[in-house]
Amino acid sequence: MKTPFIFGKVASGDDFTDRTQEISRLKMNFLSGINTIIISPRRWGKSSLVEKAACETREENTNIRIISIDLFNVRTEDDFYRNLAEQVIRGTTTRLSEIQSFVKKFFKQWIPKITFSPDHTQEFSLGLNWEEVKKQPDEILDLPQRIANAKGWKIILCIDEFQNIGFYNDTLSFQKQLRSHWQRQPDVSYCLFGSKRHMLMNVFTSPSMPFYKFGDIVFLEKIKTSDWEQFITHRFKATGKDILPEQSIRIASLVENHPYYVQQLAQQCWLRCIEKITDEIIDQSHEALTLQLGLLFQNLTESISNTQLNYLQAMINEETRLSSSEIIGRYHLGTSANVTRIKNALGEKEIIDIQHGKNEFLDPLFKTWLKNYYFKGK
Ligand SMILES: Nc1ncnc2c1ncn2[C@@H]1O[C@H](COP(=O)(O)OP(=O)(O)OP(=O)(O)O)[C@@H](O)[C@H]1O
Ligand SMILES: [Mg+2]
Repeated sequence: MKTPFIFGKVASGDDFTDRTQEISRLKMNFLSGINTIIISPRRWGKSSLVEKAACETREENTNIRIISIDLFNVRTEDDFYRNLAEQVIRGTTTRLSEIQSFVKKFFKQWIPKITFSPDHTQEFSLGLNWEEVKKQPDEILDLPQRIANAKGWKIILCIDEFQNIGFYNDTLSFQKQLRSHWQRQPDVSYCLFGSKRHMLMNVFTSPSMPFYKFGDIVFLEKIKTSDWEQFITHRFKATGKDILPEQSIRIASLVENHPYYVQQLAQQCWLRCIEKITDEIIDQSHEALTLQLGLLFQNLTESISNTQLNYLQAMINEETRLSSSEIIGRYHLGTSANVTRIKNALGEKEIIDIQHGKNEFLDPLFKTWLKNYYFKGK
């Protein structure tokens, strides 16, 4: 039987819960041509949110085209341009003849080579000469605007894992290039999202960076307990299994409402439950899940220095004054300048999140594993 919980895939349709405010904000931005930037830690639901908002916008507006580009494996500038050109064409036409005419009409400085897949589906790829693209990227960057203009459409480009542009050679000039084109496109807007908060904040909020004040920045939050309560309870009941509302709340709170883990833990509970869930089943599932991730966490601790681990231990023990001399002494943290360095290093490794002066573990199960296994008895 198919389990009623999903994780590791974009949540859509019935699997998607809540986020009503974020969806309306995104849809409003899409309709009014406002650029949006979405930032959240990994697996909090950015891709699912954008897809949901895009889906609803498409259904309600026939003159809008929303095009998705995922940069997760796009590590160079030429790959970026090729992806952009291909996805824009794929997102605006499905007819073979039109693909050819688009290329003829919109590329004048140099002509990309189109290769169609042998089975004559709409699949195609563009061959670009990188030397030419590098000299003249304008026609690719302006392609969405020129198509939008020719068709009388509005186009929205949603670019996932946007932080990857930080890996390109000379990323700053590249960003300048993008920004200078993107800000002159009246019929195209951009929704850029990703998970490296540190890097994205630098790109979008530093006055010296090209993308400064590019658009509306959304810091995605986790999904609220009340929504998880309803979602989990409903999913159990709909599949003939019994759960109390407080037990659904317990599932969500054991993993601090982290969307991916809530779904994963709920699934483990559901699989163990025959008719009626018990608190023991929830605890066993939580423990099994933590242990299942143990090897991964073991490797992670190997990439963390001893003083950084000491700092994490102080956090787990809920010490508040982490830079006081007493705590520094007790946990062997070195000097107070060292404490700041440790904190920043853990932030850059995405182990902790520093928000409003408060440190939090980004992975709630890593915290549980450290507490219940690694630091146990220490
Ligand atoms: N609105 C939602 N309703 C229910 N579950 C959700 C929702 N959003 C996210 N999830 C859960 O979290 C998981 C991760 O979601 P998603 O892939 O959208 O996150 P992401 O922020 O894009 O992650 P990454 O940073 O890895 O790209 C989903 O597979 C699903 O289990
Ligand atoms: Mg994603």
